[in-house]
Amino acid sequence: MPKKVLVIGSSLREKSNSETPADAFAAGVQSSGKQVEQISLKGKSIAFCQGCLACLNTHACVIRDDAAAIAEQMRQADMIAFASPIYYYEMSGQMKTLLDRANPLYSSDYAFRDIYY
Ligand SMILES: Cc1cc2nc3c(=O)[nH]c(=O)nc-3n(C[C@H](O)[C@H](O)[C@H](O)COP(=O)(O)O)c2cc1C
Repeated sequence: MPKKVLVIGSSLREKSNSETPADAFAAGVQSSGKQVEQISLKGKSIAFCQGCLACLNTHACVIRDDAAAIAEQMRQADMIAFASPIYYYEMSGQMKTLLDRANPLYSSDYAFRDIYY
């Protein structure tokens, strides 16, 4: 079991359905004595990726908003669990936008090896 687990919820709804399993997962990880961080995209400002690919060289995004801090938490995590509502048979747009904005991690030395969705 990894040491540091990050749980990211992407629903923007109060009393979100997809946060219920995320909460249970986080509680289970915590009760096993591991370090868990749980964040929500509610209230966060995360713009669309502009596709400039500057991040492949700089390991940072040119856009200054809340995505940078979340990407840094992702970089430090050993395991990441994503919780998303299903929107049109897929992950939600806000979740996909966050993943696009995490592209600076693509060429960086991130710790995680496990992703759960
Ligand atoms: C834009 C939109 C698209 C959706 N598309 C689907 C879908 O393709 N399949 C489905 O089963 N539910 C779909 N839903 C319903 C949501 O997945 C459902 O309400 C879910 O419980 C929302 O999760 P949340 O409470 O964590 O936000 C859609 C909802 C919205 C707003």
